[in-house]
Amino acid sequence: MRRYPNSPPEPSNNASSAPQRSDTATLKTLFPYLWVYKWRVLLALGCLVGAKLANVGVPVVMKRLIDSLTISPTHPQALLVLPLGALVAYGVLRVSTTFFTELREFLFARVTQRAVRTIALQVFRHLHALSLRFHLNRQTGGMTRDIERGTRAVGSLISYTLFNILPTLVEITLVLGYLVTHYDIWFSVITFVALVTYISFTIFITDWRTHFRRTMNELDSKANTKAIDSLINYETVKYFGNEDYEAKRYDEGLQRYESAAVKSQTSLSLLNTGQSLIIATAVTLILWRATQGVIDGKMTLGDLVLVNAFMIQLYIPLNFLGVIYREIKQSLADMEKLFALLDQNREVADAPDAQPLLTHGAQVRFNHVDFSYESKRQILFDVDFTIAPGTTTAVVGHSGSGKSTLSRLLFRFYEVNAGGITIDGQDLRSVTQDTLRHAIGIVPQDTVLFNDTIEYNIAYGQPGATKEQIVAAARAASIHDFIDSLPDGYATMVGERGLKLSGGEKQRVAIARTLLKNPAILIFDEATSALDSKAEQAIQAQLKEIAKSRTTMVIAHRLSTVADAQQILVLDHGRIVERGTHQSLLAADGLYAQMWQRQQAKADEELVSSPDDAVDAVSN
Ligand SMILES: Nc1ncnc2c1ncn2[C@@H]1O[C@H](COP(=O)(O)OP(=O)(O)O)[C@@H](O)[C@H]1O
Ligand SMILES: [Mg+2]
Repeated sequence: MRRYPNSPPEPSNNASSAPQRSDTATLKTLFPYLWVYKWRVLLALGCLVGAKLANVGVPVVMKRLIDSLTISPTHPQALLVLPLGALVAYGVLRVSTTFFTELREFLFARVTQRAVRTIALQVFRHLHALSLRFHLNRQTGGMTRDIERGTRAVGSLISYTLFNILPTLVEITLVLGYLVTHYDIWFSVITFVALVTYISFTIFITDWRTHFRRTMNELDSKANTKAIDSLINYETVKYFGNEDYEAKRYDEGLQRYESAAVKSQTSLSLLNTGQSLIIATAVTLILWRATQGVIDGKMTLGDLVLVNAFMIQLYIPLNFLGVIYREIKQSLADMEKLFALLDQNREVADAPDAQPLLTHGAQVRFNHVDFSYESKRQILFDVDFTIAPGTTTAVVGHSGSGKSTLSRLLFRFYEVNAGGITIDGQDLRSVTQDTLRHAIGIVPQDTVLFNDTIEYNIAYGQPGATKEQIVAAARAASIHDFIDSLPDGYATMVGERGLKLSGGEKQRVAIARTLLKNPAILIFDEATSALDSKAEQAIQAQLKEIAKSRTTMVIAHRLSTVADAQQILVLDHGRIVERGTHQSLLAADGLYAQMWQRQQAKADEELVSSPDDAVDAVSN
């Protein structure tokens, strides 16, 4: 027995257990996605500076214009001339602001959208690569919202930092530079102090109220997950008449959301009021200094207009700084969640030197396998058996004895704890998962279908299959006639998770799609358990025909369906307690013989009571 060093780690159950990254780390993760378009990014930055230069230039030209029209008290007779140069410059600068801004947006649109697309696709692929264990522990509703928010956050973050924060900083620098070089030191001091106060106040208050927003988001996700779960279980809710109970549970979530949202709004008002106060004070002080300057004759009217225009221009983006800082924080939080999903380790990963699986006959061997889903509870104990190429092995046993687990292990949804599984001598851990899963077809115990047409669901076994192939598969699975009888035929929609089809119909669709896949190894996991005895017999003959040339594992609930298997394994509490053929097991008079007698007696009883529809309960 070979022990692999990479036996499964203790599973991490949710994204929040991934290490929290800092905001700078999140930004660093984002950066390479943008740097793909290095030249576009650099050009866009050039445009940004250009737009701001033009923007700051407008009030300066305006000042020239006004000054040229002001009649100087020393030469009252001097003729006024039309300041043509200044007028043209004014027009050009105004247009340039818009031109550079739009050019920048144009250059950057592709960069942003490509980053969003790349990240979304990467996360999607990654989620499919994560283990079944991860998915069973996560609620899909909450996760899809995390992804949706996260990808949206990428776009917002880029536009907020690159198109708001950065331009504002450039503008502040230019304005301060102009004020310092042209005017009384007070102007730059007032502006600078006001800016620092404003920014610190904004950041301080926003940080304080961020946790209200986070709580709000979390509660929002939770309420949403609850609602989705409740609606998915629509039938169950009805069976138990628990609509009120469900509504109450949902409302509990909503209530907590409500109070968090109110707190969030109150603190927002506080922030806005404080910001206005700081700005109003600064602008008034500046105007006071300027007016005084004009009175003292140290400044012209043009200067007064210029300083005022600067303040108003700075005031506009600053007014949004609070919102933008909040949005950036929020985007960072959302993006952090998205990247945390990417940080989830793949529990089942291809070995670096994984080879494609090569099948010739497809012998399946379980070699002293121990397995547990959770370390506290072992499910399989020393399971050891071989399925000879092209033969059928049946696995029987009580519900919960570990039968379906065998098929999950063969698909390598989980790693075994000890021992190993081979196909034609190749250990599952040494081959690529892709080729492994191509080689195996399963008709699972609970078939779930995509919310699409019947045709789509059958064709899923082999994307690109022709209509003829699909119909042939449906015929082989004895469902063609049924589909044909539907008003919409193959174009019939099956409903979410296939709910519009009965259990038996769903299983037959699953059989058809597996037939289409045409794998070397077949698994039927209680594939006919949802069918009544008659339908089961009809399809059983077909399944046998299909299984003839293939290595097949049949997990059976009704023993009569596996009596002619070459090998029967009796599983009890995760151990193989008996093995052999039907005859030898009956002769051994053990657990199998008991189960057989019980089922025979039950079948006789049903034949007496209702000969036409002896329906077996669906077992799990
Ligand atoms: N994802 C899981 N996590 C933890 N325990 C599981 C999981 N799936 C199945 N089990 C447990 O493993 C045991 C065997 O399950 P399974 O192989 O599905 O039984 P069956 O023989 O009915 O097909 C059951 O007791 C079940 O509760
Ligand atoms: Mg099962």
